[in-house]
Formats: sequence, structure tokens, C-alpha cells
Amino acid sequence: MTETIIRLTDLRSDARYTTHTPQIPAQIRAAAGHLEDALARRLHDLRISVTDRCNFRCVYCMPKDVFDKDYAFLPQSSLLSFEEIERAARLFVEHGVEKLRLTGGEPLLRKHIERLIEMLARLRTPSGKPVDITLTTNGSLLARRAQSLKDAGLTRVTVSLDSLDDTIFRQMNDVDFPVAKVLEGIAEAQHVGLGPVKVNMVVKRGTNDADIVPMARHFHGSGVILRFIEYMDVGTSNGWRMDEVLPSAEVIARVNDALAVEPLEANYPGETAQRWRYRDGGGEVGVISSVTRAFCGTCSRARLSTEGKLYLCLFASAGHDLRTLLRNGASDAQISTVIGDIWHGRTDRYSALRTAATGLPENAPPKVEMSYIGG
Ligand code: GTP
Ligand code: 5AD
Ligand code: SF4
Ligand code: SF4
Repeated sequence: MTETIIRLTDLRSDARYTTHTPQIPAQIRAAAGHLEDALARRLHDLRISVTDRCNFRCVYCMPKDVFDKDYAFLPQSSLLSFEEIERAARLFVEHGVEKLRLTGGEPLLRKHIERLIEMLARLRTPSGKPVDITLTTNGSLLARRAQSLKDAGLTRVTVSLDSLDDTIFRQMNDVDFPVAKVLEGIAEAQHVGLGPVKVNMVVKRGTNDADIVPMARHFHGSGVILRFIEYMDVGTSNGWRMDEVLPSAEVIARVNDALAVEPLEANYPGETAQRWRYRDGGGEVGVISSVTRAFCGTCSRARLSTEGKLYLCLFASAGHDLRTLLRNGASDAQISTVIGDIWHGRTDRYSALRTAATGLPENAPPKVEMSYIGG
């Protein structure tokens, strides 16, 4: 496939504007329900960002000094419509995707997201199974939306929560949002059956690492699966430093001192989390160690940005513009072939290549922000 790389010189630092425009291939190939990349990694999971906006300003994701009132969020016309998202998702499902994750920014800020979930819930895999439809949220709007999300067909939900300490939580979300409201959202999600609810805690050494054990104790025995995430060098604006990463091995040691744990097998190849369980039967806990123990070798995740660019890695610096194809009259068969070709050529494995010393491969181009591409 030939590719044109468009770079707007005045926006060189903004990776959103670096795009590969796929060419329609002369030869059409039908989706076979199974797609492998150049490193024999199967496409299994599509993450769809439905908005680049968020009502939080987490310091590690959308720092206020960058994402301020002058920040150019995407205009409404740039966003994929629900019909466009559903069409793209259907083509990915025909290629073997079994899990769709809606992300953002904050996905519950996208108006009428329930309508999109209803549309996606009707999709079936080539063998006729429903698709797992899940959503990652900051939980701020979850208490009042959990029932309607469940009714629309959402399977389960993952909530980001970095501390139980209200002062630290308000500092980390940087919009003074109270922790109690997020806990209400988690409780309501459990109540309506959006489970197992997972909670993601990004651990920053010196900021919230004192909350590791309190978080483990709080969710122990609750049915919620808590996962500790190593602070990652996504995007270019969070000022990431290796010394702020607390390695997962240390996280697990601290948890184990308080509540004894033992390892569990992965649920599926390519799972982000290493799973552990409490020896006393208090449930499961996990760690996501993209910095100290990269899991690129089995990475099965593709990402569709808010404006319809396909990214092959969370740390990518350029996406493949599917929106142009979706809007310019390309047929399903043509777009499906493009998707197949793109995945086929994939060699991305950023975390595995990252040099621990500097955190960045040498001469790395600017990476796209996580709020744009979706977690
Ligand atoms: P499950 O379906 O519940 O297993 O979800 P998941 O772990 O695949 O998804 P989730 O969105 O909860 O991912 C948890 C966190 O892991 C994200 O917020 C990211 O911080 C990180 N993460 C997810 N996918 C990737 C990836 O492909 N690469 C890296 N480096 N980190 C990832
Ligand atoms: N490092 C690790 N995780 C991050 N997330 C956002 N930014 C980072 C980062 N720099 C996580 C959020 C949320 C998900 C969307 O991604 O906590 O769980
Ligand atoms: Fe918003 Fe999630 Fe990013 Fe926090 S991590 S700013 S909640 S998108
Ligand atoms: Fe996949 Fe890229 Fe994450 Fe590696 S760094 S696991 S290739 S998304």
C-alpha cells in the first residue's frame, strides 16, 4: 500500500495532524475472521475514542497548562458519527475483533452514547457471538447513567480512580472533583450488573503511592477488580519521568505485606494486566506494567481515534485516516481490505523498545495524546 504523509509545518508538535492516507487497493480481499500482523499478533480488541474532551484534568493525562481554555479540541464536524463508528466497528468485527472498548477523553460526555452502544450491541462475530462492549470512564457521571448504559447493552465498565484520599484525588483530577461521587458511580455500576467492575489506579511515586494499600483493602472482598497501572510516557505533555514510576513488582510486594496474594493465569493472550488473587478468597487484583514488563509481544489492540484515524499503538505518532474512506464513498469491501492490509503490515512495539534510561527511543517523533487516541 502506498501512503501519503501529511505534515502541517505550523502544527508539527501536534501529532494529531500527522496522518497516513490509505489508498484504495486494486485487489479486494474478503475478511476471514482472523487477522495477524507482521509479528503474528492477532487483532482481537478495538478501542474507540468517542470524544477528545474530558471534565477532569488528570495531571498525567491532560495537564491544565496544556489543556486550557485555548486548547483546540476537535470540532463536532470532525467526529465520526455513530453510524460511521458502527460501520467501522462492524468491519473490524468481521476481521475477528471480539471486544470493543469505548474510551475518550471521557466517553460519557459524548451525547447519547447509549444510542451508539445499542447499535454496537447488535453486532455479531463471524461465528454468531455477541461482542463484548465495555467502557472506560472517570466515573463522574456514572451513578446516574449506569442503568441506561446497562439497558443499552453495555457488558461491563472500568472506572479510573487514583486515590481514596479526597484531598489527593481532587489534586490528581485537578478539577476538585470529590472521590465520594466516583465511589457512588462504582456502587451503582455493580448494582445494575455492569460487572465485574474494574478500577484502574495510575500509580505515581510520591503522589499517590501511599494509597496502594488503602485501595487494596477498600476493594478487597467487594467484587471489584482493582488494577494498579504503571505511570506511562504516553503523549508529550505530561512531563513523564522514570523516577515517578513505581514498578509493579514493588506494588505487589506492598499489597502482599498487607493482604497475601498469589498469581493467577491470564484470562486471554495479550491481556494488559498480570492477575493476582487474595489467598483468603477476597477476590482479584492486578498490575499493568507497560514500563517494567512490556506486553507488546501479544498486543492485540487497535485504536480508532475520535476523528476516525486508526492507530496501531498507544504510543504511535501517526494514524491511518479511515474517515476519508468512510466519507468518500469507499465500499465496505474496500475499507475492509484497507484495514486488513494495515494490520498485516503492523510491527509496532513501542513499550518493548523503550529505553529504560530515558524513557524514549532515540529520535522518536511526537506521540499522540492519550485523551485523543483513547486509553
Ligand atoms: P480488560 O478487557 O478489562 O482486560 O481491559 P484492558 O485492561 O484491556 O483495558 P483498560 O482500558 O482497562 O486498560 C487498562 C490500562 O492499561 C489502560 O488505561 C492503559 O493505561 C493500559 N493499556 C491498555 N492497553 C494498552 C496497550 O496496548 N499498551 C500499553 N502500553 N498500555 C495499555
Ligand atoms: N499512564 C498510565 N495510565 C494512564 N492513563 C491515562 N494516562 C496515563 C498515563 N500517563 C489511564 C487512566 C485511565 C485510562 C483511560 O488510562 O488512568 O485508567
Ligand atoms: Fe480524563 Fe481519563 Fe485523561 Fe483523567 S485519565 S484526564 S479522566 S481522559
Ligand atoms: Fe501494544 Fe503499543 Fe502498548 Fe506495545 S506499546 S502493548 S504495541 S499498544
